[in-house]
Parts: sequence; C-alpha cells; structure tokens
Amino acid sequence: MPANIVVVGSINMGLVTTAERMPSRGETILGEGFHTYFGGKGANQAVAAARLGARVSMVGAVGSDAFGTEYLEYLQAEGINTGHVRTRPGLSSGVATIIVSEGDNCIIVTPGANATVSPDDIEKSRSLLREADAVLVQLEIPAPAVEKVLQTAEEEQTPVILNPAPMQPLAPACWGKAAYLTPNEQEFERLQSEYPAIAGRRENVVVTKGAAGVSVFRADGTEEVIPVRTADVRDTTGAGDTFNGAFATAVAERMSLEDACRFANAASAISVEKAGAQTGMPLRAQIEDRDL
Ligand code: RIB
Repeated sequence: MPANIVVVGSINMGLVTTAERMPSRGETILGEGFHTYFGGKGANQAVAAARLGARVSMVGAVGSDAFGTEYLEYLQAEGINTGHVRTRPGLSSGVATIIVSEGDNCIIVTPGANATVSPDDIEKSRSLLREADAVLVQLEIPAPAVEKVLQTAEEEQTPVILNPAPMQPLAPACWGKAAYLTPNEQEFERLQSEYPAIAGRRENVVVTKGAAGVSVFRADGTEEVIPVRTADVRDTTGAGDTFNGAFATAVAERMSLEDACRFANAASAISVEKAGAQTGMPLRAQIEDRDL
C-alpha cells in the first residue's frame, strides 16, 4: 500500500523572462526568451512525493484563470488528488514573476488565491488529514491556515512535517505540535532567535544545508550530519521542496529518521541536475538505482 500524504500549501506559476540586462524604472526593453514553470512550495512538494510513489492529496487554492486550470490538470496528470484545491472566482492564481539577466534575477511572488487558504478550508479537509499517514505544510499560505493544520492533525493523531519556508510568525504554541521541523540554515537561526520557547527543541529537527547535506538533531542534543552526494548541479530551485516531499514519503513509510534523510538527500541531489523546480524531481526507481 503506498503511503498516504496530504500536502497543504501554495501553488504558483513561474513566469520567467530572460533579458540582456535589467530594465530601469519606467523603461521598456526587449526580452530574449520566456518560459513558464510549475512551482510554489506546496505543489512542488506534492509532485516530489507523488513521483516517489506516495498517494498524494493537495489542499490549497488557485484562481479562476488559465494558470489555475492548467495547473490543476497538470497536478492530476501527476496522479495528485486535487479535490481539495479550491478555485477562487475573481482571483488570480499565485504567480512568481522572474527576470533573469546577467547571471542574476529579480522575483516578485504574488500570492493571489494562495492568500485565501483559510482555517475553514482545513476544517473541510479534516477527514483527509485523519486518514493520512503524514501531513506536509510550509509557510507560503496564511499563518491561521497553517496553525489550523497543526491543531487538526494533532486532534486526528496524524504526524505533521512543518517546513518553515519562507519563515513567517506562527503562534508560539504551534511549533511544538509539528512532529518534524525541516528548516534550512537561515530559517533554523531565526527559529532559535525568535522563538525562545522552542529554541531548546532538538528532537526531530532536520536542518537542510544544501551541498553539505542535512543535520539531524536528537532529543539529547547530539547532532549527526548526513552528507549528500551531488553530481552535475544545474539548478537548485526546488531542491528543498524535493527534499521535503521525499522526506514526508519516507516518514509516512515509517523509515527511521536517518534513512528518511538519506532517501530525501538522494532525491534532492537528483533534482538539481535539471533546470526548473519540478523537472528534475526523480521517480522512485531513480533513487533505488543510487547508492545511498
Ligand atoms: O521553493 C521554490 C519555490 O518557491 C518556487 O517554485 C517559487 O514558486 C516559490 O514559491
């Protein structure tokens, strides 16, 4: 039986224009190229888990525009249950507008429908959370919705993996409700300084460190670094999302914490070999072919 995972989070369409240089304020210039990519931390993590064989349901929102329709069809083609992704009439879907020039980029993320994901939506998805082996949530949707996920999953006794990205405030009592926290190094530092109540927490905290792998902390304060073996790094966009989707799959399959980190490291290492957030996310067989 495949692991049953619920991912609650954002759905963004990435709109990428490449140009010889950045335009100045008020200036119009000609671009060199344009492409769209499927992104948003929630959807990225849902796709990562689905490709690794998990049964995935997504909870979130898109706008009543062409991007929303296209994204829903795409998620369904990836085998993801979109029955709990709401379409908001009159709103745009989330978009990340990106200008790439001279090896640099400028990004505006417009949340659109993502900003409307509410505690009421989570309540309506309670039965999904109850039946799941694990729930995965990030912070690209409003804090009250994330807090409701943590509360509801606790009531339904389903473990939550909280990926605090991008970092935003949550009610202090909520942090302790997550079975696993997966910050990157910057997010971990902010957690330590801004939430003294949980600063001492070490149990099931996994800090992702890019090419350096991950640090796993245990309740007794000891730290183990689990290295990652990267090969041809082409684009690290979405590497953290691949890690989280894979980690949630492994947790839902009851792997040990160390094995879950090795599995997720392998998935993210493969994902960076292709351009775009989701393009390089591996299928299960690709991980099994790797020497972890
Ligand atoms: O984690 C990468 C993602 O963050 C991108 O896909 C972009 O949409 C932003 O939401």
